[in-house]
Amino acid sequence: MHKDLEEILVTDIVLQARIAQLSARISKDYKGRCVTLVGVLKGCVLFLSDLIKRMDIDTNVDFMMVTSYSGAQSTGVVRTILDLKQNIEGRDVIIVEDIVDSGLTMKYLLKNLSTRQPRSLEICTLLDKPSCRKTKIPIKYAGFVIPNKFVVGYGLDYNELYRNLPYIGVLKKTVIEGKI
Ligand code: IMP
Ligand code: MG
Repeated sequence: MHKDLEEILVTDIVLQARIAQLSARISKDYKGRCVTLVGVLKGCVLFLSDLIKRMDIDTNVDFMMVTSYSGAQSTGVVRTILDLKQNIEGRDVIIVEDIVDSGLTMKYLLKNLSTRQPRSLEICTLLDKPSCRKTKIPIKYAGFVIPNKFVVGYGLDYNELYRNLPYIGVLKKTVIEGKI
């Protein structure tokens, strides 16, 4: 375990097993169709790659980058930094996120993407942290519901560190500047 962590919340093995289940469910639900996966950078990267390599349907991958966070604190204001390259009108779209926390980022993404008139729009998030939710978010595919702790690893960062860890861990409070 990395020295900055308090505990491992989801191990590598458990992550991979759950992602295989999600891939199978999505492949079944979208059988015979091509699904457009919109990855939300940068946290989605490890999850998205493991998710799509197990799918047995046609996929189309694109990315968006939005921001609302600085360190461990949400500013609540969401902005687009990088937009999709493709037109999603008439497509079956799934937003692929690392974590839904307050839900403000996802609310913004849903509103933004739905104006482009996709055929369908769903959410797939690796982690769901419902305790701090500020707005109702209809999550169709969720990997793990987690407690209100600041987590890192498997794509998730704290000030751009720890994304490479193959598991999800809880960051030690002493590592986090200020309060979260
Ligand atoms: P929300 O807008 O509060 O739902 O937060 C969305 C974004 O904040 C996520 O996509 C993450 O990038 C980041 N985030 C929220 N909670 C955590 C956490 O525990 N660890 C790392 N990043 C987080
Ligand atoms: Mg994210």
